[in-house]
Amino acid sequence: MSDLFVSREHILQGGYFHSTLRKLQEPDTSIEPHNIMYPVFLLENVDAIQPVASLPNVNRYGLNQLIPALTDLVEKGLKSILIFGIVETLPKDPTGSSADSPFNPVVKALPILRATFPSLLIATDVCLCPYTSHGHCGVLTETGAIDHAASVKRIAEVALIYAKAGAHVVAPSDMMDNRIKAIKDALIASKLDNQVSVLSYSCKFASCMYGPFRDTMKSSPMEGDRKCYQLPPGSAGLAARAAARDVAEGADFLMVKPGLPYLDIVRQTKNQFPTHPLFIYQVSGEYAMICKSGDSSEIQNTLMETLTCMRRAGADCIITYFAPLVLSIINKK
Ligand code: PBG
Ligand code: ZN
Repeated sequence: MSDLFVSREHILQGGYFHSTLRKLQEPDTSIEPHNIMYPVFLLENVDAIQPVASLPNVNRYGLNQLIPALTDLVEKGLKSILIFGIVETLPKDPTGSSADSPFNPVVKALPILRATFPSLLIATDVCLCPYTSHGHCGVLTETGAIDHAASVKRIAEVALIYAKAGAHVVAPSDMMDNRIKAIKDALIASKLDNQVSVLSYSCKFASCMYGPFRDTMKSSPMEGDRKCYQLPPGSAGLAARAAARDVAEGADFLMVKPGLPYLDIVRQTKNQFPTHPLFIYQVSGEYAMICKSGDSSEIQNTLMETLTCMRRAGADCIITYFAPLVLSIINKK
């Protein structure tokens, strides 16, 4: 056959034979420090440090242990953290009173972290499940169903306390309808709406991949599951409606969680709201899977390919327990 019949547009390899050309072929997929957020587990006992059995190389820290660990990471380029509080001696009760008590480890640590790390962006997870006696993310009615109005009210109260204590970003992970509006209203009433942003866990699925995290946080529901508030894994439609709901209520940032099995939802959400920075939470089960993907160089390669694909799908920032490893990889390059 004569080459007249071969379209010149079918010759692709001339466009990516060199590593610099390959970079141009992958726009918006670079991994820089501002594309990574590091989740941190904060204990009540300021001097404690506890490894997490289900998550290799992840620790739970008291504040006095967290500060040196973060000092090292900030030197390596860490730009943002997401804090989860864990209570061991404070009481768990039906309304999660310890979430926003003055003795809560997050409330106590925020002013100190702000002063110690002036340029670090500090986000706090906002949820009731680590603090409720029943382990659900909201307040329950007498029959054990979610009391929606009471839940939203409590979640907004907790978010406001974290904002007042110094959080730059509050990140409600409960998935109750209308909590974004309640949080924004509370921020406005306290004149904090221009100093605190709301990162909504907008498209959070009822995933089995949160298992290692729930062990870490001791936050599994005592009875039932979270399928009445977290989204069914097969539903792209509810994900679109949840993102639209949270944008309408004033969310600054959206999130898809988990990440890797949900990259279609990431692309859908980015196309739906190109105006809103989009986060992925690479959850504990994803972390555990990649940790088992091979030796240390195979783990690093799998991780970086995964993060590149998350960026390609539309994620602007990835919340990952691998943040220390990512920083060390990108600093070597
Ligand atoms: C609690 C919360 C969970 C995660 C973040 N916040 C667990 C859940 O909803 O059951 C998951 C994080 C992870 O698995 O790494 N609202
Ligand atoms: Zn929760």
